[in-house]
Amino acid sequence: MNASTPLRLAVVGCGVIGRLHAEVAAHSPDLDVVALVDPYAPSAEALARRLEDLGQTAPRIYGDLAAALEDGGIDIVAVCTLSGTHASLALQALEAGAHVVVEKPLDVALAPARALREAADARPGQVVAVISQHRHDPSALAVRRALDAGRFGRVTSAVANIDWFRSQEYYDSAAWRGTWTLDGGGALMNQGVHTLDLLLWFLGEPVEVVAHTARLAHERIEVEDVAVAILKFASGALATLHASTAAYPDLGVRLQVHGTDGSAVIASDELVFFHAKDAEDEGPRGGQAAKELEAAGIAAPVVVAPDGSEYGNAHLTQWTDIVEAIREGREPLVTLGDGHLALATVRAVYLSATLAQPIRVADVLDGKYDEQSTETGFVAEGC
Ligand SMILES: NC(=O)c1ccc[n+]([C@@H]2O[C@H](COP(=O)([O-])OP(=O)(O)OC[C@H]3O[C@@H](n4cnc5c(N)ncnc54)[C@H](O)[C@@H]3O)[C@@H](O)[C@H]2O)c1
Repeated sequence: MNASTPLRLAVVGCGVIGRLHAEVAAHSPDLDVVALVDPYAPSAEALARRLEDLGQTAPRIYGDLAAALEDGGIDIVAVCTLSGTHASLALQALEAGAHVVVEKPLDVALAPARALREAADARPGQVVAVISQHRHDPSALAVRRALDAGRFGRVTSAVANIDWFRSQEYYDSAAWRGTWTLDGGGALMNQGVHTLDLLLWFLGEPVEVVAHTARLAHERIEVEDVAVAILKFASGALATLHASTAAYPDLGVRLQVHGTDGSAVIASDELVFFHAKDAEDEGPRGGQAAKELEAAGIAAPVVVAPDGSEYGNAHLTQWTDIVEAIREGREPLVTLGDGHLALATVRAVYLSATLAQPIRVADVLDGKYDEQSTETGFVAEGC
């Protein structure tokens, strides 16, 4: 493949997030959307029209991924379907020789995620990336950079709060939302996994999780709308995690990282506090954030949709990294292993809440709880 030849992309799942991936690709010189896959034809057709409006050649439309792969001419597949279908569709694409981008969460169950990882390990020339676009936020990159340089000293604790609100209408908007088999969980699996992934990126692999979950503010869903957990990390650091879709009026996300020589706070994706001992004489306490962002030298690309929205920015940044990873033969910033660890940690929270005991994340990764399926009724008993 010539370095400047665009990658031929198939978007699988043409709902809310599939549309965003297709629009981001339409704005990128590195990607051509050649195929749209959705069993519900009107969604794929509407997206095809949208791409034509953006000046793109009309993509081919398919009702299932197998048919698209059989026709060939696809370099990379973006899996943007219901969470419980992610790993199996990704495996199908991988086995057909394509690179794969999987939306978060990697899946809802560990066994298909592990099968995907084994298949990917056997095909080192193909990139498999998991979407976790907030790792590309300048705030997150600045914190990670400081941690890599050891500027916070010994990392002692972190506090991750996802204080969101989702209406009953949100859960009623599609039959798969709020189900164990297809959504795989609620406030933590669907919404909180973004912030949990950042927490793991900053603090490493958790050793043990203790948690409670509850369903308090929504009807007709099987999953939790509040999850609280305590995580113990291999380094000895401790963290608390609070994920809610029942926190009206929605206070956004806040992630604090604390160490013996410094602390940082990210609130609603912005670096609102940064203080490291080594720069103590450079302004007021906590006032180093702007300087850190500048030093990190991060310029995020901007895609402005016709309605003025800039929602796709972080997705575009992650896509840029993924294309570069393919061309340079390196790992992307967010790997399949990262998505696997985030999924295992979410499952550890649900298992701890249901079994009323501490859960070792390594045991979840190793398959000890695979038979404790995500099916309706299992974790719900703990709610
Ligand atoms: N990264 C983010 O910020 C972000 C934001 C929203 C959603 N997501 C994730 O994206 C995924 C989809 O969420 P959504 O809100 O777009 O859902 P959605 O219901 O709007 O869209 C899902 C689409 O997938 C289609 N589909 C179902 N099974 C399919 C199959 N086998 N092959 C092809 N298409 C199939 C459906 O017909 C539907 O059009 C979820 O896993 C969600 O967690 C990520």
